Amino acid sequence: MTTSAPGKLLLFGDHAVVYGHPCIVTAISERLYVSEGEAAGDTRFLDAAIAAWGKQGTTLSATSTFSGKYGFGSSSAVTVAALKMLRPNATHKEIFETAYKIVLDIQGVGSGFDVAAATVGGTILYGEGGKVLEQLPIKQIPLLVGYTGVKVDTATMVKSVAQKREKEPEKVGRIFEAIETIVLEAKEKMIEGDWERVGRLMDFNQEYLRDLGVSSEKLESLIVAAKAAGAWGAKLSGAGGGDCMICVAPEDKKEFIEEAITKAGGEVIHISTNAEGVRVES
Ligand code: MEV
Repeated sequence: MTTSAPGKLLLFGDHAVVYGHPCIVTAISERLYVSEGEAAGDTRFLDAAIAAWGKQGTTLSATSTFSGKYGFGSSSAVTVAALKMLRPNATHKEIFETAYKIVLDIQGVGSGFDVAAATVGGTILYGEGGKVLEQLPIKQIPLLVGYTGVKVDTATMVKSVAQKREKEPEKVGRIFEAIETIVLEAKEKMIEGDWERVGRLMDFNQEYLRDLGVSSEKLESLIVAAKAAGAWGAKLSGAGGGDCMICVAPEDKKEFIEEAITKAGGEVIHISTNAEGVRVES
């Protein structure tokens, strides 16, 4: 038997979600596959899944259609796919709760949005450690992705925001509130399919991420390039400091924008959004 779970891209609400605010995340077409067999490399997540739900002597291995360097959430996806392998009839709630605990134990930080996306799939409004989990009625998002070439350690970025929050609690609190307002409007506009407004909201969200100190020169140059080439709006996705830039754009500008991202030193990554959650493949 083989199971799989999707990677994710965070669309809105990065960092604020760590403090209980909502975010919007979409599951992407890149997937992580788990089957029986001896694993190689980093086996921490597989081992923890086996310790939670496996029998003695169980071995699991993982393969992926994407590199762990992009920040697509491979740790969460591997954990979720492994739990599905061990208990194919477990509910989404059981898988989410067990996987989130494993990921938190190993990584030390994390809001769990990536675990939720890997489990239920689609595009979701997520918050409060999973108490808010609403699947949005959206099909495809006109999303383009540029990788900066810089791999980021999420825990380091989360800690830098925590330090800023300690120093300037009121300012950072206001930023999180403003991001929440953006997230809630983005939810409505995405459902309506008003992608031009969604782009503007990405720009607003990016301004606050910049204020939090989590953007980078490379991210900014990809953002500028994408917007100059016709994107409706652009922002970093995830922890910041590197990883990926995302933008929404009209179909007829797509090629132009991809060229601009490449010229600015980014790597264009082709994905589709709103992918199915964890599943048994065979
Ligand atoms: C990292 O991909 C996104 C953060 O919001 C951390 C998290 O929510 O776990 C920075």
